[in-house]
Amino acid sequence: MSGVSRATPRLELDSVSMTFHGETRSVEALRDISMDVLPQEFVTVIGPSGSGKSTLFNLVTGLLQPQEGRILIDGSEVADRTGHVAYMPQRDLLLPWRSVLGNVILPLEIQGEELDEARARARELMPRFGLEGFDDYYPQVLSGGMRQRAAFLRTVMSGRETLLLDEPFGALDALTRRQLQDWLLDLQRSLRRTILFITHDVDEAVYLADRVVVLSARPGQVEKTLSVDLPRPRHQHMIGEPAFGRLVTELLDALGLDSTHQAS
Ligand SMILES: Nc1ncnc2c1ncn2[C@@H]1O[C@H](COP(=O)(O)OP(=O)(O)OP(=O)(O)O)[C@@H](O)[C@H]1O
Ligand SMILES: [Mg+2]
Repeated sequence: MSGVSRATPRLELDSVSMTFHGETRSVEALRDISMDVLPQEFVTVIGPSGSGKSTLFNLVTGLLQPQEGRILIDGSEVADRTGHVAYMPQRDLLLPWRSVLGNVILPLEIQGEELDEARARARELMPRFGLEGFDDYYPQVLSGGMRQRAAFLRTVMSGRETLLLDEPFGALDALTRRQLQDWLLDLQRSLRRTILFITHDVDEAVYLADRVVVLSARPGQVEKTLSVDLPRPRHQHMIGEPAFGRLVTELLDALGLDSTHQAS
């Protein structure tokens, strides 16, 4: 946890459980989840499909309320969590009828900020998001990587300190994904936000994180929390090194996957 202070957690889940009650059946999505994220920490969450990862985010943002347990932000339980965290959902959800700039300024527009100022601030950040000159483009003509960067810029534009990113690189090819991982880590060095990041990819989970939280299959429970004590800045070549391999093996074990048959 390099550079992370031992302060009050930015975010804390205390014995959180969530069951969805449908007309014919109920689904227990999360059971007794306790975890925390420290200020400026980068925590990745990994777990099988359906283990409740997106549900966890919906709880933290306040879109859902847990049946049991508490969610604390900066040490206190706030009634309205929606204003405290920025959320990038699993699909980018860029509005097709708005240009890149129009999409990116949306959070500020909703917050009632002055539009010219919002546009100026967005334009200032666009080069760092690889979007310079693309203000007037519409999402459907962008590459997958650009769409993700635009969605990410929109998330950052909300100005909130804590970012929840739900598989932001999930739909990308392997090369673009690796480029964006490094881009995100570079950006994080200057943004210094607190990041909770969902992924299905064990390499990505280790590569980005200060800590990895492993969820079990449904109902999701915290199977393990792994500290990643690799130095920063990270470099892609670290993925081939023994220390990295040991962490990945530990992660695969926690996920119940046989690390000697890691074909995919
Ligand atoms: N609004 C809802 N109503 C009913 N059931 C839901 C709802 N949202 C999620 N679920 C159920 O809760 C379980 C966990 O879903 P969730 O989307 O959180 O999983 P996930 O870990 O994000 O999966 P994936 O990796 O595929 O994105 C699933 O069985 C899902 O069907
Ligand atoms: Mg999900």
